[in-house]
Amino acid sequence: MTEGFRAVYGAAPEGVWAAPGRVNLIGEHTDYNDGLVMPLALPHTCRVEAARREDGVLRLHSADASGGVTELRADALAPPGAAGDRGGWAAYPAGVVWALRDAGHQVGGADLHFESSVPTGAGLSSSAALEVATAVALDGLYGLGLPPQRLAELCRRAENDFVGVPCGVMDQMAAACCTAGHALYLDTRDLARRQVPFDLAARGLRLLVVDTRVKHALGDGAYAERRAGCEAAAAALGVAALREIDTAGLPSALERLGDAELRPLLRHVVTENERVERILRLLDAGQVHAIGPVLTEGHASLRDDFRVSCAELDLAVEASTAAGALGARMTGGGFGGSAIVLVRADAADSVAKAVTESFASAGHREPRIFEAVPGPGARRVTAA
Ligand code: GLA
Repeated sequence: MTEGFRAVYGAAPEGVWAAPGRVNLIGEHTDYNDGLVMPLALPHTCRVEAARREDGVLRLHSADASGGVTELRADALAPPGAAGDRGGWAAYPAGVVWALRDAGHQVGGADLHFESSVPTGAGLSSSAALEVATAVALDGLYGLGLPPQRLAELCRRAENDFVGVPCGVMDQMAAACCTAGHALYLDTRDLARRQVPFDLAARGLRLLVVDTRVKHALGDGAYAERRAGCEAAAAALGVAALREIDTAGLPSALERLGDAELRPLLRHVVTENERVERILRLLDAGQVHAIGPVLTEGHASLRDDFRVSCAELDLAVEASTAAGALGARMTGGGFGGSAIVLVRADAADSVAKAVTESFASAGHREPRIFEAVPGPGARRVTAA
């Protein structure tokens, strides 16, 4: 279990920690609008073997990246300027050390070895898994005793201000706070949350993930543009965030919004928050199969109003629903990445086959399809 660390650093680690990737069930592009989200943790994790160092040196190594060991001084970390070299994958754990220290926590040096089974660039939050794994490991090594929510907030700060990706807090909260067998209903305005039982097998259902293998990157500008559009719409409407508008207020807000480009963004955010509430009510009522059409409705909104889908994601949704899936939608930031598909258990294979065949006939790369069973959030893997 600890061969990776030993091979790199020549000694045994003090412990092993892990944090999961996620899929988001519903509530997309709402988290930077103070809105509602409902992610669940994947069984795929980023694992980190870690040991404390007393000399303030931070050494970072990943089994998944070439380039050897990155060596930094914990007390010399500073966010690079806008045009600075952000340091590839190592910027994520380095950013977490920076964010912890900047918030006044006594974190010094450490040797860290990472190994991740979360697919990268697939919209499954491999970055948040890397950040949160780093945070729980340092929390453990340095005995900080910080609650998962605080670790998530600091990881988001690392990604925003150190790595330079303007994400919301959903992915870090999912990695830190999800629990096995549940979806996490989260209000990003105040981080109030609830663990919602999500036992699909008991209902004869399955949730498939279709990784289109179209690489998505949040840093490429389109994500930031959508975010800026939402902020401009909120400012024009005189509210702190689009969350303040509900479905009852939507028609008049749409009328008041002069900019025709911003109207569909507003419509998506307001209707998406309502879909989260609707899915929560259905899950609470035990009507799990009935969430299918709400998922598909959410996809149409992301495709037509928010415009963050792509041909492969649309095809995954169309082909799966045509083959009998109860509902499907893209998940995560979009522009590639993955879709989720809700199916009756006995139709899972035929739906997966139909999606794969549709990709082949359209000349797309073969998608990677697997099942999402909600797993636990960040944790220590080895005994303390
Ligand atoms: C990415 C971001 C999240 C969220 C989603 C869209 O995953 O990291 O904060 O904005 O996109 O819902």
